[in-house]
Amino acid sequence: MNHKNKVVKALSLTAGLLFAAGVGLQAQAKTFKIAVGDGGGSPQEALGKKFVEELKERSGGKHSANLFLNGQLGSEQDTVNDASIGTLDFSILAINNVTPFSPTVGVFTLPYMIQSLDEAVQLTQGPVGKELVENTIRDAGVRIIGWTYSGFRVLSNSKKPIKTLEDLQGVVVRVPKNEIMIDTYKAWGINPTPMAWSETFTALQQRVVDGQDNPYMTIYSMKFDEVQKYITNIRYLFSIEPLIVSEAVFQDQNAATQKAILDAGEAATKYSAKFLAESEAAIKEELVKRGMQIDDPANGEKEWIEKATKAVWPKFYESIGGKEKLNAVLKSLGRDAV
Ligand code: MLT
Repeated sequence: MNHKNKVVKALSLTAGLLFAAGVGLQAQAKTFKIAVGDGGGSPQEALGKKFVEELKERSGGKHSANLFLNGQLGSEQDTVNDASIGTLDFSILAINNVTPFSPTVGVFTLPYMIQSLDEAVQLTQGPVGKELVENTIRDAGVRIIGWTYSGFRVLSNSKKPIKTLEDLQGVVVRVPKNEIMIDTYKAWGINPTPMAWSETFTALQQRVVDGQDNPYMTIYSMKFDEVQKYITNIRYLFSIEPLIVSEAVFQDQNAATQKAILDAGEAATKYSAKFLAESEAAIKEELVKRGMQIDDPANGEKEWIEKATKAVWPKFYESIGGKEKLNAVLKSLGRDAV
């Protein structure tokens, strides 16, 4: 058992002892804290607001929660640690920032794995998603109770239009501290710069890095158009951004509150898919109005797809749970086995 699991187990045990001593599980009204990596207008905020509204309603007005946007409560990866030890209640963050704590969720970060919003919905809300929820409780001490759908991560930069891998050479790109994403850029011929999300805007502004990748909605909500000019419409990762609750905090709630939390997460997830489908096209147009230039990769992204899938997928078969597991996921999407 790793250190985090031990801490979570110890906290759960303490809750159990308190219960046995007659103190009981949390029954009093509570205002939870929710860390949010992105800014106002983002799919993360939209999911968070819906969750709070639903939580209030489903707990008969007893419980509420406040959102802390723009990484105010720490970097996305730090919030996983904090939730794991029970010092933070909830966090909404990109799945790639959960992978270092729970490697099997890396299946969602394999380049070109998820090819549409429908596939993202199918995987997260079906048996694959349910298994990953259990794995994440086991590995990281946090429970995924909702999924934000934010769209494909596209590549932005301040230097020049990029359509081919040749154009990409020499461009300094920030990536999350995620091995799969780091290796994807290496497969494309450059050494990316791993950096926490909370430091990214400043790094782009000060030209420490030239570019980064994130969905249109995120680029908009983070005001990256102020510091980036060019976008390449690559579709290598569909960004899934879970709402997690500290397992220690969750286990400390009575059954009615646990049910309200789970139901509110489910309702917010459904809303998130609708929000993305209704907002993304307008946001893309808005970015162009604000002066950004959007280019499609040349030749239907063929060279990007081939390089990334060939070099990256086999390296991560083991960490995501084995090739058989991956093939089961591919089969569920109607794709060929690897
Ligand atoms: C990242 O690039 O680290 C994440 O995608 C940030 C986010 O939550 O949008």
